[in-house]
Amino acid sequence: MISMVTSNVRVVRSILAAAPHRSALRLLPSIDPRSSSLLQLSRSHTSPSLRTLAVVAARSSYSSLLSTEEPNMVKVKAIRVHELGGPEVLKWEEVEVGEPKEGEIRVRNKAIGVNFIDIYFRKGVYTKDLPFTPGMEAVGVVMAVGPGLTGIEVGDVVAYAGNPMGSYSEEQILPANAAVPVPSTIDHKVAASILLKGMTAYVLLRRCFKVEAGHTILVHAAAGGVGSLLCQWAKALGATVIGTVSTEEKAAQAAQDGCHHVIVHTKEDFVSKVNEITSGKGVNVVYDSVGKDTFQGSLSCLMSRGFMVSFGQSSGTPDPIPLSYLLPKSLFLTRPSLMHYTATRDELLAAAGEVFANVASGVLRVRVNHIYPLSDAARAHIDLESRKTSGSIVLVPDI
Ligand SMILES: NC(=O)c1ccc[n+]([C@@H]2O[C@H](COP(=O)([O-])OP(=O)(O)OC[C@H]3O[C@@H](n4cnc5c(N)ncnc54)[C@H](OP(=O)(O)O)[C@@H]3O)[C@@H](O)[C@H]2O)c1
Repeated sequence: MISMVTSNVRVVRSILAAAPHRSALRLLPSIDPRSSSLLQLSRSHTSPSLRTLAVVAARSSYSSLLSTEEPNMVKVKAIRVHELGGPEVLKWEEVEVGEPKEGEIRVRNKAIGVNFIDIYFRKGVYTKDLPFTPGMEAVGVVMAVGPGLTGIEVGDVVAYAGNPMGSYSEEQILPANAAVPVPSTIDHKVAASILLKGMTAYVLLRRCFKVEAGHTILVHAAAGGVGSLLCQWAKALGATVIGTVSTEEKAAQAAQDGCHHVIVHTKEDFVSKVNEITSGKGVNVVYDSVGKDTFQGSLSCLMSRGFMVSFGQSSGTPDPIPLSYLLPKSLFLTRPSLMHYTATRDELLAAAGEVFANVASGVLRVRVNHIYPLSDAARAHIDLESRKTSGSIVLVPDI
């Protein structure tokens, strides 16, 4: 009898093996223990243990077959990059998203944060194998969890910022340990505008250099996504904040966001102006995300033993400087990446917790100034790159 059950399992298995995955799914009722021919055969036998064995065999044959089959593919739309270049290389295409494996979740994105780093990858300033889906920040709803995963459930709202790249997509697979819970009081678009930029501000102000009451700091691109959060947070810490911006409109925003002094760098030289504001003393720290156009000037703005935090290159990579350049004022220089400061789960949760707590307490007022359909990500890139934007930019899959 056992060999008979085994041979019938083989028959069912071979039918399924020959069928494509979706057809195999349709065959499920026919191999379901209640209706399968395998069980009908087994019912003709009097021994209950053999009948049970047949049920177990049928079930295990089905599940083992499913596990060797191609995973169920969910088809969604996403932005894809097949070649490096301008915003026109961002293509709106159908992609397949697999089911989450062990330690993974599948998330339906509700709002996707746009960051300058997305432009670096699109242009090839930072490299990634082609083709790829850009985007390093999103908030979404968990649609599926990998086998055996605990602590996260279907329906949870989560956010992530950093690796893996691929948030410009209606759905994506994420490692569960990259996702952080989003407080229910925080709107999806707000959360997607603030996690990466806010954690960056946290790392810059609390970990790279600890800003304290009485410090004077210089922030470039003070009305930008990261810049506006840096200014608000630094002011709340008791620092005197000097910001640089390109237009009067951005200057008004930077002033509202906590800048005590705003320099419109298109009208006045920021080095002389900082010198004037600080009575020749210089600032404790410069947060420079602009890079090539500002790097040398930023070093000149520092006081003795000041900190140069170069954390971006919106205008291009800064020219190299000899080490001896730091000597006249015993300067410190660091080039941090958020990823290195959120590398462990504890660090990630601490950084995200600080950001969400500061949003809840009102220290951080998030400017979601620009919302675009996900399919129109190219327009978001054009506007960010041409300095038309201020505050945060969000892409929404279903506008
Ligand atoms: N190291 C890290 O881990 C990390 C993490 C997040 C962000 N970042 C960096 O932080 C910076 C800000 O990112 P964000 O997403 O918040 O962008 P953003 O500041 O909103 O946008 C960039 C701003 O930079 C200024 N800018 C100066 N020269 C520019 C140029 N040639 N082209 C374009 N913009 C120029 C513009 O402000 P004005 O018009 O006022 O001059 C522009 O609005 C980026 O450099 C990014 O790479 C670094």
